[in-house]
Amino acid sequence: MHKIGIYFGTDTGTTRLIAKKLAKKIGDAAARPLNVNRTVVEDFLSHDALILGTPTYGINQLPGKSTNIAAGSWEEFLPELDIIDFTGKKVALYGLGDQEKYSDRFVDSMIHLHNFFTEQGATMIGQWDTDGYRFTTSKAVVNGKFVGLVLDQQNQALLSDERMDRWLETILPQMEGV
Ligand SMILES: Cc1cc2nc3c(=O)[nH]c(=O)nc-3n(C[C@H](O)[C@H](O)[C@H](O)COP(=O)(O)O)c2cc1C
Repeated sequence: MHKIGIYFGTDTGTTRLIAKKLAKKIGDAAARPLNVNRTVVEDFLSHDALILGTPTYGINQLPGKSTNIAAGSWEEFLPELDIIDFTGKKVALYGLGDQEKYSDRFVDSMIHLHNFFTEQGATMIGQWDTDGYRFTTSKAVVNGKFVGLVLDQQNQALLSDERMDRWLETILPQMEGV
């Protein structure tokens, strides 16, 4: 089995920290997590199973130069994948946000990754229940579920470990053998 690729965007490092925790929990099957602003497309494509993380900044945007991340992030990396066919690849998303301060746009950025990789043919896995979160609106909810794991390190940090464990239990069996 190819190693599971873990890629993230971040501004203040929280999404990186979660990537490292996920990698540690997964163990040998996980490749070393990489920031997408330092990722070579060829390496990204070497994995048939991917875990992709993003924080949310700004309204209806992916993190990147438009949201004042000088080194760039998903906003700059996704266009590099524009012509790639992801058919046969499994993609699981995780997103970080703040449900109290940004209750009306909680973890919105995830929807951009979801739509992009869906359109490129990937099999999206790891949808997540909205139970246990308090927010008014999120673009990242499709058919009543978040499009990926949602973590809120500002308000619910103590729940994150258990959420990660439960999420990995559902996605890892689906990533086996890819
Ligand atoms: C200026 C600013 C705007 C933010 N906008 C949102 C938002 O629209 N929705 C949301 O859920 N969280 C929002 N957040 C919270 C961040 O997504 C959250 O703190 C995240 O953990 C940051 O991840 P990072 O440390 O990897 O950059 C915002 C935070 C800041 C500082």
